[in-house]
Amino acid sequence: MRRNIVAGNWKMNNDLPQTEALLQDLKKHVVPDNVSVMVAPTFVNLYHAFESVREYSVEVIAQDMHQAKSGAFTGEVSAAMLKSVGVKTTIIGHSERRAMFWETNEILALKVNAALENDMTSVFCFGEELEDRKSGNHFNIVKEQLEEGLFHVKNDDFKNIILAYEPVWAIGTGETASPEQAQEMHKYVRGLVTDAYTNEIAENVSILYGGSVKPANAKEIFANPDVDGGLIGGAALKAEDFMAIVNSF
Ligand code: 13P
Repeated sequence: MRRNIVAGNWKMNNDLPQTEALLQDLKKHVVPDNVSVMVAPTFVNLYHAFESVREYSVEVIAQDMHQAKSGAFTGEVSAAMLKSVGVKTTIIGHSERRAMFWETNEILALKVNAALENDMTSVFCFGEELEDRKSGNHFNIVKEQLEEGLFHVKNDDFKNIILAYEPVWAIGTGETASPEQAQEMHKYVRGLVTDAYTNEIAENVSILYGGSVKPANAKEIFANPDVDGGLIGGAALKAEDFMAIVNSF
């Protein structure tokens, strides 16, 4: 059975003291049994965060990683480096990486491979821009992102994949996809996984929704049968808000 997951993507927020303060605030809350909780601090604070939450049921994950094993890639971080500080999961293909750092579907496919080669789980992000939604092209765009970036993964490896639908027009804008829009896309995506893999694999993959999720709307979004949780940006930066979302199943 697939897992409920709430993951906080802290993006380029929180220096070391702020990271520790937020983790301390999170640790005041009890994580319910029916949800896996993840937080993604910036690279430089991953080791500290991993040590800080050792005794707490929150997984520390990365926001990205490079596809190469090692070498002359100034400023980049490899899967092996992440693993050496305790990280077993990374976000791949966030729309901000796609848009601002020119990450193509082809590059993302290599990143997914590098994660799998290192027994790491990928939170694979995809989602359409506003123009795609307006022109009715959103299903095609999502299909292309999945086919080119992800669907080369072998059946056996798909257990190490978490999907995250993040419509770009809903990220950091305060505008959320309606529960119906989220469910419609998630159902479509689960159908794509069924077609490319098997019904069993599709039923077992968690599909998260991301884009202006907050305590006030999390319940109605998570209530949909094909929405298995959320990838949270702004609201993950306050422990009270994040834990309210965690408790929205
Ligand atoms: P917001 O929740 O701030 O819209 O960000 C969503 C997101 O991009 C999570 O990865």
